[in-house]
Amino acid sequence: MDRDRANRILTQQAESARFLGVDFIPIGAGAYADAPELVAAEPAPTHEEPGTPRGSGGRTPSAYVPIEIPEGELAAEQAQQLLDEVRARYERDAPHKHFVTDHHNIVFGEGDPRAGLMFVGEAPGETEDQTGRPFVGKAGQLLEKMIVAMGLSRERVYICNVLKTRPPNNQTPTLEEAELCAPYLLDQIRVVQPSVIVTLGLPATRLLLGVSDTMRALRGRFHEFPPQADGLGQGVYWKGAPVRTTQVMPTYHPAYLLRSYTPENRRKVWADLKLVMDRLAAEGTPADA
Ligand code: URA
Repeated sequence: MDRDRANRILTQQAESARFLGVDFIPIGAGAYADAPELVAAEPAPTHEEPGTPRGSGGRTPSAYVPIEIPEGELAAEQAQQLLDEVRARYERDAPHKHFVTDHHNIVFGEGDPRAGLMFVGEAPGETEDQTGRPFVGKAGQLLEKMIVAMGLSRERVYICNVLKTRPPNNQTPTLEEAELCAPYLLDQIRVVQPSVIVTLGLPATRLLLGVSDTMRALRGRFHEFPPQADGLGQGVYWKGAPVRTTQVMPTYHPAYLLRSYTPENRRKVWADLKLVMDRLAAEGTPADA
């Protein structure tokens, strides 16, 4: 690696780490003076509590047939083609027609189709709905800083959401809505085959782990995916096991972090991400090309 590139990476990491409140970098008074503005600019949904049901009509995705994954190592182009198929299937099925949305575009997901690391958020917000891209608003900018702080780039990870369409007023998805969209997320996981999934916030965490615990109880350690024990929604959509066992690291949603922008919360998220980095490094999953 040349010196310029190394310097650039170090600078990026130091800046991002400072932003996240990493303990070895002193946090000066007023260093995050812009944070309240960010919070005010994007009212964040409540990520600590389940959402109020908006009534999805009780449909279940039981007819869903998981995408077939060819044996052997998938090339990136092959994986991208499969993801395109999942997207086309999502567009045809339009599971969001069974619940209320406020969307102009489908936000399917993007990134490296064979990424070792996948981020799963809850649902697109306004900017994501306008652009058709996940995590490009204020919360997305913070997520990108987190990714850069990990020594990665947006292009080298895969980013998607549980819901592919924007809920009205950015409401938190209900479990029923999440379950209707779950087969497509599971297929994204089956194709990408990430080694680690970072779930951002409770809806994604609870859906993938099949639990109803709080983030406080779940974050800070890895959980196996698919989960062993029966849990919420299991048997409805966990048809077609993922191709590999994946480790899930739940952490706070960046929108929650923006809203509760305390050094303590930033340190917690950074601690979760450091565990992910250590795991990827121990496995030899490339952190950057
Ligand atoms: N919040 C999410 O959960 N996902 C996005 O894509 C943007 C904001």
